[in-house]
Amino acid sequence: MTPLSPRPVRASHVALTELMIPSYANFGGKVHGGVLLRLMDQIAYASAARHAGAYCVTVSVDGAFFRAPVDVGELVTLRASVNWVGRTSLVVGIRVESENVTSGEVKHTNTSFFTMVAKNEKGEPQAVPPLLLETRDEVRRYLEALTRRDIKARYEHALDDANSALAVHTDLDRLVGQRCVLGSDVRRELGVSA
Ligand SMILES: CC(C)(COP(=O)(O)OP(=O)(O)OC[C@H]1O[C@@H](n2cnc3c(N)ncnc32)[C@H](O)[C@@H]1OP(=O)(O)O)[C@@H](O)C(=O)NCCC(=O)NCCS
Repeated sequence: MTPLSPRPVRASHVALTELMIPSYANFGGKVHGGVLLRLMDQIAYASAARHAGAYCVTVSVDGAFFRAPVDVGELVTLRASVNWVGRTSLVVGIRVESENVTSGEVKHTNTSFFTMVAKNEKGEPQAVPPLLLETRDEVRRYLEALTRRDIKARYEHALDDANSALAVHTDLDRLVGQRCVLGSDVRRELGVSA
């Protein structure tokens, strides 16, 4: 098998601008988070597929935290590029900004990271080209992706350990001070007095 040649980050740059129309709004008049997630998924696909030269699927999403609401009538711009590559997976970083065209105010609504996997015609994971880093920012983003991977692996490991050690009977005191109440059936089942 011939090794794949590195592809520059700039080859995976994609930008997308969309007007937030009334049908995107929730009952509070702000844009649904799901609308932004759909746009992010689309641009992640476009960026990943450009790098991989193959069909890609979304595996996971990190950092889907919306810092500010987006209003109907604003222009939302997404910018994406590949930040990191593994063997068959890659991470696309996406920055989302919304612009009020009348006031000129621009809000950074979120920065998220989509992990995608390239697939061949049989639907099997397929190797992607290495990434050519040409700027200091590209090196920084690659290193940040390594840090996130490392922390995420430790977090997932710790979460698995904590969940397998959890025992509802003995952990009930953790509910003290929480904003929840036990229904009568579950109290009876757990032998908890009212
Ligand atoms: C993601 C998927 C391809 C992994 O398949 P698999 O048989 O486990 O394949 P592999 O073990 O070879 O993993 C392939 C790559 O995915 C990565 N991967 C698998 N699970 C992952 C996870 N939870 N988070 C991040 N990366 C993951 C692996 O690290 C590997 O990357 P690498 O080749 O760069 O090292 C498979 O689970 C899948 O197709 N999921 C559905 C994805 C999809 O359809 N998304 C759209 C939802 S509508």
